[in-house]
Order: sequence, then C-alpha cells, then structure tokens
Amino acid sequence: MLLIIYFICEQQVLIMNRIVILASGSGSNAENIIKYFNNNKSVSVTQVLSNKKDAKVLERAKRLKISNSYFNRDDFSKSDKILELLKEHADYVILAGFLWKIPESIINAFPNKIINIHPALLPKFGGKGMYGMHVHNAVVENEEKESGITIHYVNENYDEGAIIFQEKFKVLPSDTADDVANKVHKLEYEYFPKVIEQVISENG
Ligand code: GRF
Repeated sequence: MLLIIYFICEQQVLIMNRIVILASGSGSNAENIIKYFNNNKSVSVTQVLSNKKDAKVLERAKRLKISNSYFNRDDFSKSDKILELLKEHADYVILAGFLWKIPESIINAFPNKIINIHPALLPKFGGKGMYGMHVHNAVVENEEKESGITIHYVNENYDEGAIIFQEKFKVLPSDTADDVANKVHKLEYEYFPKVIEQVISENG
C-alpha cells in the first residue's frame, strides 16, 4: 500500500509541462522565459519556432541549447505541419513577439493553452498592425498618461482573448516611444514568466 502511494506521488512530481515559444523577432522575452524555467522541475521550454529565418530569437535559442527551427506560411496555415509539431512537443504555446495570426486548428487544439503578451493595456492599442514600435509611437502620440503590458489567452481575433494579467506604468510627458518600449520590456521580463508559471500551476 505504502509503495503504491509513493508511486502515485512520484508520478505527480514527475509531470512536466512543455512550452513551445513562437517568436518573430529579437526574442529577449523568449530568452528570459527560457532562463527562468531552466532546471525547473515541472516546466520546460522544449522548442523555439520562428516564422523569420534570420530572427535573432533563433540565435538566442541556439546559444541556450534549445531546439529551434523556422517555418513558412504554408507550414503554418496551409498544412498541419506546425499543428502536429506542437501537439508532439507542447502543452502550452507561448507567443513572445509573434506576429502572425494563429490558425483556428491550432487554437482548437490548445484551448486556453496559448498565451500572448501585448505591449500595451488592451483593449487600447491592440489589433492588426499594432505591434512593436507602432504601439509605443501611438501611446506617445495620443499623450497617454499610462501604458503597460497585457498577458492574455489567444483566440481567433488579434489581441481579443481573455485577459490574464495587466500591469501599468506612468508615461511621462518627456517619454519618447523608446522610453515607453524600455518600460514595457522591464515589466515583461518581470511578469511574463511568473504569470506563465502561475497559469500552469493553477491548471495542475
Ligand atoms: C514585446 O514587447 C511583446 O510585448 C511584443 O513583442 C515584443 C517582443 O520583444 N508582443 P522581444 O522580441 O521579446 O524582445
């Protein structure tokens, strides 16, 4: 009897939640997430995938010894290649600066398991074309008093999935779009991995 209980406990301890990161650009968030979960007993980043052959995120993954590869539009949207790859390697899909819309087949295969980070306080400054410096420029041009980050589940519409977490900072009148970008990145590094960890632990 004791042996069985021990066996069950061991099984629970050994459950590993696998993350695959999709990113299109520099990948500083991807690197931060990989480092955060390095040696973690229940979460592991198994792959980094990019839709850009020369994306810096692929170099980062290589340096950190994480399996990485590139895919094209057909692999992603017109075939099941990436869907099958994700089914094989991911329990959670993390979008860290990933710019393509996620096909419905992938959304349906990972309900509430695809998480994105957006560099503003959604629903403001979201939607198609609102990414990277476009967002920060818009925040400054609109003379916003605050901006921040939004971590949310992904659904079939850009930036419209249920919000999991938001954090704000003050935008000063003297802040440039670069200053806003730096403040955003600081919050992203602090919270994104922790929020991912929290979601995974709440799902058991
Ligand atoms: C981040 O600001 C993220 O919010 C947005 O894209 C940016 C990616 O930055 N979705 P990096 O490539 O992780 O440095």
